[in-house]
Amino acid sequence: MTTVVCPGSFDPVTLGHLDIFRRAADLFGDVIVCVVANPNKQGTFTIDERKEMIAAVCADIPGIRVDSFYGLLVDYCREQGATAVIKGLRDSTDYDYELPMAHMNRSIAEVDTVFLPTRSDLSFVSSSLCREVTRLGGDVSHLLPDSVATALKARLA
Ligand code: PNS
Repeated sequence: MTTVVCPGSFDPVTLGHLDIFRRAADLFGDVIVCVVANPNKQGTFTIDERKEMIAAVCADIPGIRVDSFYGLLVDYCREQGATAVIKGLRDSTDYDYELPMAHMNRSIAEVDTVFLPTRSDLSFVSSSLCREVTRLGGDVSHLLPDSVATALKARLA
């Protein structure tokens, strides 16, 4: 069993994220889904709300824990005894954004990053687009876990 960390904003968690969590759990056995706090960004959901939503939708997946932190990701990985960071890659834009962080994390702490390609039918899904469409009255409930879609509508629509 290898402990890995899936970090992100998850504001809110999408079916694309959930697919990555499941596959990471299948591959590594012990996955900490970690909501990373960004004090410069006011989220749609609080950190605790995001954690609760993730915990609820992951309740039936063995090997997944949910946590949050503020600080350097590599410090958190070290504290948790995690050997790698798992990131979903949707496209080349994600790759360009993620690669320097992966190199930096490896450079400063020898923490590796494993990239998993997102499910092709979900490769256009992002939390920010789901928020925008919901805010403007559109329906993205097929792209989010049911409980999350309901919470997002209640918050934004
Ligand atoms: O979902 P996001 O917003 O794309 O996630 C990015 C996140 C939070 C994983 C990244 O910004 C991060 O790792 N932040 C923690 C602070 C840190 O370690 N910064 C140095 C990165 S090399």
